[in-house]
Amino acid sequence: MDSYTIRKKFLDFFIKHRHTIVPSSSLLSEDSTVLFTTAGMQQFKDYYLGKISPYGKRVVSVQKCFRTSDIEDVGDEQHLTFLEMLGNFSFNDYFKERAIEFARELLNSEFQIPNSKLWITVFKGEKEISEDKESREIWQRLGIPKEKIYGFGKEENFWGPTGDEGPCGPTTEIHYELRDKPCEKGKNCIPNCGCGRFIELWNIVFNEYYHDRKNNLTLLKKKGVDTGMGLERLAMVIQKKPSIFETDLFTPLIKEIEKNTSKSYDQNKRAYRIIADHINGSVFLAGEGVLPSNVAEGYVLRRVLRKAIRFGKSLNLPKHSLVSLAKIVIELYQDIYPELQSKQTDILTIVQNEEEKFGKALEKGMKEFKKLSEKGYITGEEAFRLYETHSVLVDEELTEEYGIEFRNKEGFEQAIKKHQEISRAGVEKKFGGVGISKYEVRIKKSEEEIKKITKLHTATHLFHQALREVLGKHVKQMGSNITEERLRFDFSHPQKMTLEEIKKVEDLVNQKIKEDLTVEKKEMKYDEAIKSGALAFFKEKYPEVVTVYSIGDPSNPSDKYFSREICGGPHAEETSELGNFKINKEESCGAGVRRIKAILE
Ligand code: ALA
Repeated sequence: MDSYTIRKKFLDFFIKHRHTIVPSSSLLSEDSTVLFTTAGMQQFKDYYLGKISPYGKRVVSVQKCFRTSDIEDVGDEQHLTFLEMLGNFSFNDYFKERAIEFARELLNSEFQIPNSKLWITVFKGEKEISEDKESREIWQRLGIPKEKIYGFGKEENFWGPTGDEGPCGPTTEIHYELRDKPCEKGKNCIPNCGCGRFIELWNIVFNEYYHDRKNNLTLLKKKGVDTGMGLERLAMVIQKKPSIFETDLFTPLIKEIEKNTSKSYDQNKRAYRIIADHINGSVFLAGEGVLPSNVAEGYVLRRVLRKAIRFGKSLNLPKHSLVSLAKIVIELYQDIYPELQSKQTDILTIVQNEEEKFGKALEKGMKEFKKLSEKGYITGEEAFRLYETHSVLVDEELTEEYGIEFRNKEGFEQAIKKHQEISRAGVEKKFGGVGISKYEVRIKKSEEEIKKITKLHTATHLFHQALREVLGKHVKQMGSNITEERLRFDFSHPQKMTLEEIKKVEDLVNQKIKEDLTVEKKEMKYDEAIKSGALAFFKEKYPEVVTVYSIGDPSNPSDKYFSREICGGPHAEETSELGNFKINKEESCGAGVRRIKAILE
């Protein structure tokens, strides 16, 4: 089963269980206290805290994540900086029982992973938070013997919050047994052993608490579920590979590296893996518009990119190898993350520039580093000088590789931090300390053009509802763009639409146009609007009072509208004004997201 099918099966399973697909949010976090998106739940934080989710109480996603905390671990069988997290979420809907049942059922029946391979951890209680006996019982009822269920404390089985504050709670984790033989610890070789016998596959978090900025925990008014399973690890298990780097997500990269070096993968796994992971991460960061720099996200991009370059040198990869690898990453992921393709030139330019610039500095810097290492150690001061003059970042990785000691590492880290603060101050000064404001450029449109846009706007509402009737209620708006020529609409749906489905949707929209329905406008409180069935565009931050457009037949006594949406307008007054609706194009626009272009003739 390839990774594309794994993503799709995951989404399909939860759609079947009435979850709505929400596309991945950006890798760059909206929360100012964290740099990157590290978990699927981040974009849903508010819905655990009582805000009504326009997507309903059950959602599912495939989220792009970047974890700087794992940078030093990359090179083993299971760690990555960039990863895709499969997650299902419940906001005050199902809780422990259903969440655990879903996980077990999906693994057993869709992915053919039997219970016999699963080991479970649950929260054993710590300080003021009590033991999670319920999860333990549920797992036992579902066929996991009690000898394979272990309790752990907060360190292992309590998750969140991301950033300074937010929802958090006890977890139950599903570990997969890669080898049936225990390590030398014998009976004590259990999940979290660290010997590589187990791999943590799925984390299921029961959000019951709110962690505030002062580290106080209070009970949340409404409980929720947040889960995360790494796609790459799941692929490793399903494809029965010894590491994530041997799955279909990485083999094209490993093969390309192999082609360009005489050093084998088997003898140099670490270097191969670091290059493969870091180029992946670099491409995705660059794809988000991050540029290599000395601060924040830019610093992380520079760091992973330069580390890939450094390990490329150790394998004697020829010049511009990273550019070829970056191209492969784009090819691998472009069907799922089309932004990689539209940003291709930027991404490749960034990689190439860094390869050229840093490649030269690295040669000089490494000569210097080797000289300094001869005495058996390097000091923080020397390391900082190397960084300043040759941009060589000394880390434990490098000192270990050369078998030397890193003295006064803290001093080095402090100096780097200070250096970054100075750089940041420079950036702020340049922009007058206020950041760059966005300018909205309005071009005056003719009356004729405004009329066309207005009609397409109303057609978009009919179309959105028609999609929901033909494909299912999981369809939600992910993006919309209207010009006077056409409408463009992005929506959640796990697979390509068939020609028959396209025809059905077109016919339904045209039927509603012919019925000459009335477009009614009403102001309402946001929460009331959602409760009354109005659809909302997820990414929008709505004010408390919103405008709701309902399209229906006012003479119908049951007040049954065909479409109801929160929207700023403007709209046609009656659907008969619209003309004939025609779909011109259907394509992918992200994991579980489709894009349609349509016109009014
Ligand atoms: N938010 C949880 C995690 O990232 C599921 O592990």
